[in-house]
Amino acid sequence: MEENNQTMVSYFIIKGISDVPELQLPIFLLVLIIYLITFGGNMTILLLVCLDPHLHTPMYSFLRNLSILDISSSTVSLHKVLVTFLSHDNRVSFVGCTLQFYVFSCLACSELLLLAAMSYDRYVAICNPLRYSVLMNSRHCALLATACWTIGFVEVVPYVVLLSKFSCYKSNIINHFFCDLVPLIRLSCSDTSTLEMLTFIEGLLLLSLTPFALTIAPYVFIISAILRIRSSTGRLKAFYTCSSHLTVVVLLYVTLTCQYLRPTSADTLDSNKLFSLFNTAAVPMLNPLIYSLKNRDVISAFKRKLNIVKHQ
Ligand SMILES: *[C@@H]1O[C@H](CO)[C@@H](O)[C@H](O)[C@H]1NC(C)=O
Repeated sequence: MEENNQTMVSYFIIKGISDVPELQLPIFLLVLIIYLITFGGNMTILLLVCLDPHLHTPMYSFLRNLSILDISSSTVSLHKVLVTFLSHDNRVSFVGCTLQFYVFSCLACSELLLLAAMSYDRYVAICNPLRYSVLMNSRHCALLATACWTIGFVEVVPYVVLLSKFSCYKSNIINHFFCDLVPLIRLSCSDTSTLEMLTFIEGLLLLSLTPFALTIAPYVFIISAILRIRSSTGRLKAFYTCSSHLTVVVLLYVTLTCQYLRPTSADTLDSNKLFSLFNTAAVPMLNPLIYSLKNRDVISAFKRKLNIVKHQ
């Protein structure tokens, strides 16, 4: 551990969720269980959507994208907790740390954009059903999904460029369970003002509020269209087709808001870790559950596959 004040850091030490020795096993087990549920749940959705022809629709191919994002982002953010417990090696190289931050942020940005694309899909399905198959043909959908991934992966580049220019760190101990931006900024003794400005302006306007607006705007039209439907069963049915997506959107944005709008005084770093754990671990775990428990199509696809297995 380098102790001199201004040091060229070649590796960081990830402090983890807690450094109390008695808590290491419970934390490891908790994270392992969360990770296995996330992996299993999203894999189930992925396989069902690939195997069941009834689920070969734009909405479910977007959902397949979402599952891939969820598996990847929880692997990127949680693997260090699991590996550290097993190997007792909590070091991570400077490049590894920057890479982890980059990939995690890209996946998060792509996820927000993908939710906006899914919102647009629901908008066309409910407000413009006769043109649905034309507007959401497979080429358009593939284009839309590619755009979400590409923009997500490009948006974060400025952060990484600025972060890689930091040369001076007060210490190399990261009080977090993965390399996130805020703990890294706190550690640095380089001039962080440009990066903080970028976080505030680009992070707030481009990375958060824009996808939020793009996700919510279609719902204004969806809800007014649903309210105009005369029969109450028709209204329920229309609402039903977008309720899973809406639940996922609300869950994600509520946890994001809770994490970022809280006061960032130094002593809240530990509670920040808990919020962060909820965001990075619980949301990807809950997404497939929300989509399967609330969704007749997914449940019946699951039953069909189970029956095939039983009858063999
Ligand atoms: C992502 O969604 C697009 C558009 O619906 C689809 O064409 C593509 O196959 C999906 N990708 C994956 C990996 O599921």
